[in-house]
Amino acid sequence: MCAPELNHQVLIDDRLFDKGGMFFDRLREVVGYGLGTVPHASHRLQRRMLQPAFVKSRLPGHAAIMVKEISKVVDSWQDGQIITDVPGVLHHLAGRIATATMFTAPLPEPLLEELTDALHVVMDSLIFRMATPHALARIPTRGKRRYDSARSRLRAATGQLIDIYHRSGLEHDDLLSMLLSARDDDGLPLSQEQISNQVLTMYIGGVETVAVTVGWALHFIACMPEIRERLHHEVDAALAGRHATWNDLPQLPYTRAVIAETLRIRPPGWVLTRITTADTELGGHHLPAGTTVIYSPYLMHRRGDIYPTPTALDPDRWDTRHTPAPPHGAYVPFALGARRCIGDTFGTTEAMLIVSSIAARWHLHPHGAPVRPKPRTSLVPDQLDLRITARTPAPHPPPNER
Ligand code: HEM
Repeated sequence: MCAPELNHQVLIDDRLFDKGGMFFDRLREVVGYGLGTVPHASHRLQRRMLQPAFVKSRLPGHAAIMVKEISKVVDSWQDGQIITDVPGVLHHLAGRIATATMFTAPLPEPLLEELTDALHVVMDSLIFRMATPHALARIPTRGKRRYDSARSRLRAATGQLIDIYHRSGLEHDDLLSMLLSARDDDGLPLSQEQISNQVLTMYIGGVETVAVTVGWALHFIACMPEIRERLHHEVDAALAGRHATWNDLPQLPYTRAVIAETLRIRPPGWVLTRITTADTELGGHHLPAGTTVIYSPYLMHRRGDIYPTPTALDPDRWDTRHTPAPPHGAYVPFALGARRCIGDTFGTTEAMLIVSSIAARWHLHPHGAPVRPKPRTSLVPDQLDLRITARTPAPHPPPNER
């Protein structure tokens, strides 16, 4: 059963439908008990501790860092270039944005590369680990060895990061400094493991999701001339060829709608689980305590009675002047309730800045074989290459004029 009111019931009552089930069991192997995986009993305390890093007043500063990282990538492209492995390029960019916003201290380049690379392997393997029955999960296959090694590398890199902050003794206005100075209910500092859990949670929560969303959005823009032209029209009027900034976002409603619609049709978290903590009823069925409940934003977002022609990408669905908002529980790319994504505005801002900055400068053309969704931890493109041509006169001055 997949109905908005059931989604709503499950997501709002996070005490009865707690984090648990196969997805979270596996995720806990990687991030321990961080904000996204911790049971209800400890969740509110952690959320209160981390929320200040995501308050609205911080977003313009985060956006400025995002624009810097985006321009390094987008300005390095050349007219006529084929961008191979677009998901890989975006994963790398989102990784750099996550590290640059969470850890503002100067950090060694190899450490940042190690974090990004290990995360990529972990995310790619997680779905297979989830699907492997417990009895078989310990068999040291090549995939398991690769996954275990990436998990250790991720932990080691995070540990080094914390050490660097400890050694410098400096306070930075960022997430890691906030965690280092945080105190628990008993007034004690967090252990290295607790800090590392939260850092990994934010990193895992914020990199793959954004990279996958933007990858699909770029694919749709390349393949759908009508959407591409309307997007170009909007970014030309708002940006005139430059990179978008935080202040430009209100002038980019169509870009926002393209992202919202991409999240509808390709929600990165396409299947998620909860576990019942007591006997209960759901949709007329009795569920004993300990039952795994699966909710799927992917299936929900394809209900034809809520989204007419549900498989068509139509950003105009999000034009609230003409279309009423979907019922509660029917649009859940970021979930709902107390466990709603803490990085929803951060992630949407990042996706809008990347898409609009690319669209302002580059015309995207499909290249290579048809692209299909591949079910991994997120719903990723099986492969995606794009050809780009300059939209405005060459974006770089010739080398001898630099
Ligand atoms: C397009 C971007 C994003 C999407 C689609 C997304 C999606 C989600 C979803 C569906 C959940 C709830 C999972 C569940 O129901 O079990 C979630 C939770 C979470 N997300 Fe995101 N996310 C995005 C960006 C981010 C970013 C940028 C960050 C951090 C920088 C982040 C950090 C988290 C954390 C920490 C949680 C757990 C919240 C809690 O349990 O209190 N996410 N996200």
